[in-house]
Amino acid sequence: MVVTIQQLMQWKQQNRPIVALTAWDFLFAELLDKAGVDLILVGDSLAMVALGMETTLPLTMDAVIHHAQAVKRAVKKALLVVDLPFMSYQESPQQALQNAGRILKETGANGVKLEGGYPVMAETVERLVLAGIPVLGHLGLTPQSVHQVGYRQQGKTKEAGERILREALALQAAGAFAIVLEHIPAELAKEITAQLVIPTIGIGAGSFCDGQILVTADLLGFSNRQPPFVKLYANLQETIGQALQEYCREVREGKFPES
Ligand code: KIV
Repeated sequence: MVVTIQQLMQWKQQNRPIVALTAWDFLFAELLDKAGVDLILVGDSLAMVALGMETTLPLTMDAVIHHAQAVKRAVKKALLVVDLPFMSYQESPQQALQNAGRILKETGANGVKLEGGYPVMAETVERLVLAGIPVLGHLGLTPQSVHQVGYRQQGKTKEAGERILREALALQAAGAFAIVLEHIPAELAKEITAQLVIPTIGIGAGSFCDGQILVTADLLGFSNRQPPFVKLYANLQETIGQALQEYCREVREGKFPES
């Protein structure tokens, strides 16, 4: 069954958790899709995970489109969402429209994600949705604002929490189909999830969201700087490292190939 945006809404009503992960190439996208992941995000975290950049900020439209095209070739069932890179949508709703339209046309993705909320971003979301472009919002810790907020938990004070709730309601009113809530207190995520009719997808936001997302490289143990809320489901850096060392050794010792 192919996952649709309407399906995500139904799953919220049915209390069926939404499973989301990030992908940046064909290989991982195929593994994720076959494992039954509902939503695959070509997140701008690919700048750090796949391209070795220090932050997500330098990622370009051309680079994200290149990666999203590879991911799309592998995805048969999951809903595919692609991040709008830093400065590809902040200038104006018109700029956002052009770049989001380009992502949908050139990658075949089902929607785009952008960071930020009320009031400016809500206007942009409304413009995209009016043009038929599904939008996933992203509130709380927004990595494109790293120079202002760092990678710290957001929404810790009453006022900060209320502001994130207001932003979530504004994004919903603007037509966003779901909202990623990153690194905020679980109780705040619970309150936002209860107030919204659209699904929330948490990352470091506790267990009360309608779904969960992680950066795939983090949960598989590929990352040296994984956030504190990540659970390690495998240590592939170690496993792959050992396999590669064995290959190097066997070639050097004349053990591979055997004849
Ligand atoms: O870029 C990304 O991978 C993301 C997820 C962390 C939600 O935005």
